[in-house]
Amino acid sequence: DWTPDAFVETTVEELKAEIGQDKVILGLSGGVDSSVAAMLLHKAIGDHLHCIFVNNGLLRKNEFENVLVQYKHMGLNVKGVDASARFLDALKGESDPEGKRKIIGRVFIEVFDDEAHKVENAKWLAQGTIYPDRIESVSASGGPSAVIKSHHNVGGLPDYMKLKIVEPLKMLFKDEVRRVGASMGMSESILGRHPFPGPGLGIRILGDITPEKVAILQEVDAIFIEGLKKWGLYDKVWQAGAMLLPVDSVGVMGDERTYEKCVALRAVESTDGMTADWVNLPYEFLQKTSNDIINKVKGVNRVVYDISSKPPATIEWE
Ligand code: XMP
Repeated sequence: DWTPDAFVETTVEELKAEIGQDKVILGLSGGVDSSVAAMLLHKAIGDHLHCIFVNNGLLRKNEFENVLVQYKHMGLNVKGVDASARFLDALKGESDPEGKRKIIGRVFIEVFDDEAHKVENAKWLAQGTIYPDRIESVSASGGPSAVIKSHHNVGGLPDYMKLKIVEPLKMLFKDEVRRVGASMGMSESILGRHPFPGPGLGIRILGDITPEKVAILQEVDAIFIEGLKKWGLYDKVWQAGAMLLPVDSVGVMGDERTYEKCVALRAVESTDGMTADWVNLPYEFLQKTSNDIINKVKGVNRVVYDISSKPPATIEWE
């Protein structure tokens, strides 16, 4: 019978035997998978695990700072690299969703590679790949989803980095990864997190990306997510976020007409992201959240709620 405790015990032993005294590099994303993979490797090889956490400038509000502190508390040997300016610069003027994904993926590899080279004599690259990631990349390579979206989590390794790959979670499903994390004493604030796409807010800002738009969306998203937590709804939702739409609409403030941004809120139920249903959030919650957003976030005068299921709508709008 599979149990998380037994999995941790055997995997740690296997990792020790396989890796020995070698150095391992791992990219942390703030998500559940890379964090649990890091913790397993940390248990096995301690500070021979070198974690790199890149801020691409498209993370949630205060995410980079908060998560970095948590990683350090967990005892991980982690380096935070703030490359926001480099990403936002490279993204200037790009409004095509796949174009944005390609730029974010390319810059990530460049930044990560620069950092990886600073770890002398590294032999391994660890990844938080889980079982469904592998299925999806395989099916995507032949099917239409490859054209629709190029997920960049898998196989993002430049050829000239001849590192061996170690993927301790590659046989696990998400719920098992969470149970493994819990059995190692990891906190609910990391294990219970919603999935968040690699390109981050970059694919939730429809059209081109500017630092101003990122700042607006970070505020909107923070109000929405904090609200879900405050109302006890966060754990009932599989994934939630806000989209900044590329349209301005007319509003009124006092005697003045305004012409400002519209945001769409999205919250879905799902088990693996392949299909999803919109969540029937309480009207009172939506009402309060909409008021908070419009009152507090300058430049937004309209909030809508996305009531589309996947398929045919995807979870992200890009
Ligand atoms: P969609 O929008 O395809 O999303 O219904 C399904 C799940 O995948 C996430 N997603 C991505 N994750 N890189 C990622 O790492 C991407 O380019 C990407 N696009 C979508 C999405 O957030 C959802 O969890």
